[in-house]
Amino acid sequence: MPHRFMTLREIRRAAKTMLPPGPWAFGAGGAETETTRRRNRRALKRLAIRQRVLRDVRHIDISTTFLGLELPTPFAIAPMGGLVLFHPEGDLEMVRGASPSRNLAFVSGVTGWSVEDLAQAARGPLIYQLYWSGPRSWCQDLLARVEASGYHAVCLTVDVQTYSRRERDVELRFDPQRARAIAPNEQPPEFDYQTRLTWDDVAWLKSILSVPLGLKGILTPEDARLAVEVGAEIIWVSNHGGRQLDSTLATIDALPDIVAAVEGKAQIVIDGGFRRGTDIIKALALGANLVAMGRPMLWGLAADGAAGVHRTIELFRDELETNLALCGQTSVRRLEPNLVRPVEY
Ligand SMILES: Cc1cc2nc3c(=O)[nH]c(=O)nc-3n(C[C@H](O)[C@H](O)[C@H](O)COP(=O)(O)O)c2cc1C
Repeated sequence: MPHRFMTLREIRRAAKTMLPPGPWAFGAGGAETETTRRRNRRALKRLAIRQRVLRDVRHIDISTTFLGLELPTPFAIAPMGGLVLFHPEGDLEMVRGASPSRNLAFVSGVTGWSVEDLAQAARGPLIYQLYWSGPRSWCQDLLARVEASGYHAVCLTVDVQTYSRRERDVELRFDPQRARAIAPNEQPPEFDYQTRLTWDDVAWLKSILSVPLGLKGILTPEDARLAVEVGAEIIWVSNHGGRQLDSTLATIDALPDIVAAVEGKAQIVIDGGFRRGTDIIKALALGANLVAMGRPMLWGLAADGAAGVHRTIELFRDELETNLALCGQTSVRRLEPNLVRPVEY
């Protein structure tokens, strides 16, 4: 049967046509002037790939290992809340979309379904993203359930000290919190608890976890070093897709200094504006171990549920394999920084 969608652009277009204005704005938008959101893309475009030729590229290996997990691809689904606004079975449908290919999916700390239900629905590996939304006792109870359900790690998001000003939503008078009233999962007690967090809390979190700990939202080598010191196994270079601090660094620009600061002592995840197989190649060349993608997966979910997510993954796989061959590389595990070079346009 021919595929309904043949390119990633077709999927995005279908999602935009199908979604009401509020959910589209919430998904596509960023904070304030959206400078950060745009900068992520611009910075990726300002890197060119140096192609090598005549290197026998019949066999391309895009599988990788991450924290000891064998993964089919070096990319994953980023954690996203409010998915019920995009599909009636939101988070459940998203993990179903990752299942046929056994792709890694991150489950949002504001998932609309319980961590147990999601673990049941998924056939691929899951990692839990934590929003620290209550006292330590609340965290401890929740994370015991996460670990008992088989999640492979916990990543604490640290760039939502407070919720940003998302002006597209504000101007539409659209409140994405309405998702919480529709989806079945229980509400966390105090979302604003995160405002008070410090590195001491991270040290405590590390002490109670038996699975690896990650920190999502690191943009400076100073913080990356502190994260390594406190024992984090995953450093996640992220600006929340331009949805939190406006006017901050593009993630691909922040990556090289962080890779140098981490010195191989933790795995490095990056996200923000990755829309093409070539974008993924650039981040891996500069030292990331895994690329996470948010909105492209969201458009897949909105356009065609789990099938749309699966198709999005397939298209990214195709693009990655094709472009690795075209730049003379046969494995995502062996990409070097000199594969990319800054250009002006
Ligand atoms: C609709 C939406 C909801 C999100 N919800 C969360 C969330 O619950 N937790 C989190 O850590 N990040 C959240 N993010 C940020 C993503 O995890 C990721 O950092 C970002 O989407 C990456 O940028 P990209 O969309 O350009 O790929 C969300 C992003 C979107 C688009």
